[in-house]
Amino acid sequence: MKALVLAGGSGTRLRPLTHSSAKQLVPVANKPVLFYGLEAIAEAGITEVGLIVNPRAREIREAVGDGSRFGVEVTYLVQEAPLGLAHAVLVARDYLGEDDFVMYLGDNFVVGGIRDLVTAFRAERPDASLLLTEVPDPTAFGVAELDAEGRVVTLEEKPARPRSDLALVGVYLFTPAVHEAVAALKPSARGELEITDALQWLVDRGRTVRSTRITGYWKDTGDAEAMLEVNRQVLESLRPRVEGSVDAASELRGPVVVEDGATVVRSRLEGPLIVGAGTAVRDSRLGPYTSIGPDCVLADTSLAYSIVLNGARIEGTGPLEGCLIGRHATVAPAAPAPHRLILGDHSEVRIRS
Ligand code: TTP
Repeated sequence: MKALVLAGGSGTRLRPLTHSSAKQLVPVANKPVLFYGLEAIAEAGITEVGLIVNPRAREIREAVGDGSRFGVEVTYLVQEAPLGLAHAVLVARDYLGEDDFVMYLGDNFVVGGIRDLVTAFRAERPDASLLLTEVPDPTAFGVAELDAEGRVVTLEEKPARPRSDLALVGVYLFTPAVHEAVAALKPSARGELEITDALQWLVDRGRTVRSTRITGYWKDTGDAEAMLEVNRQVLESLRPRVEGSVDAASELRGPVVVEDGATVVRSRLEGPLIVGAGTAVRDSRLGPYTSIGPDCVLADTSLAYSIVLNGARIEGTGPLEGCLIGRHATVAPAAPAPHRLILGDHSEVRIRS
């Protein structure tokens, strides 16, 4: 059995971060979201991983390498344009050959791993197997309708009028039967080859499409709010560890990680909180539920419920909450005069009137 991990896409919902970096590399508790998926795949005993990337994905290649650090062997499969999840299967056709495979969306976060799912699939070998979860607003997801016996009847991508509240989680298991379905697809109204259409094709031809309700936590980290929520979730189980230096005037409460080479001076740190390697903190109040990447500077500030990427600088600000701050970004106090803003395309800034 192989894995097909999707780390291409355009990431419009995470702009402007995704103008310069892949969304699958945004860190959750200081580890790229993609790494959690690769770890879950390795843990399920799968060692051959095809990684779908876009042609500009140098960074993903640098971060993941040959996969050996996860105990898997990664083959990079370039998708020239983000033409849909089923298009990614088409791109991977030769790589997948006649093997069964698990398709894993590289920006999805599934607590509890996929080992049981993979074991059940190997034992029963339906043509396809889906994971479903109840969501409050199914219009943003692939949605499955089940019959009274729990069999999948219809599948729709982002329906305006959903037939159920069961959304497809970004983990699918397939036998090679899916290739025939994918080859028969036409682009949807939004111009993509939809995996829901491939699944519907299988259902319509009487093939077995199983579904399992996910019991644990799942999140599609496609936008900033979801990223911050997953970060909070992962930090819940943070184990405290202080490898950097914390001066006597600082106070640590709850689970706090201060990584190697980080310095904390005259500050109050409230866990769960991670301060990345080489980061300098002074005269600040940080946390709870915050991940600060390596080599940042935080001075005279207050920051909670946030993710800060490496090399960012936050100095002399009032309280900040629920922030997602990109690499080497700077946040500084506003001048008393009119605000002066230099913003990237699609940035979002809120200013007190
Ligand atoms: P999505 O989040 O559905 O798509 P996207 O990355 O284009 O994001 P947005 O809606 O914000 O523009 O994709 C789910 C995962 O699949 C994500 O890891 C990107 C990946 N993907 C591909 O690899 N190829 C594709 O053609 C598409 C559509 C997504």
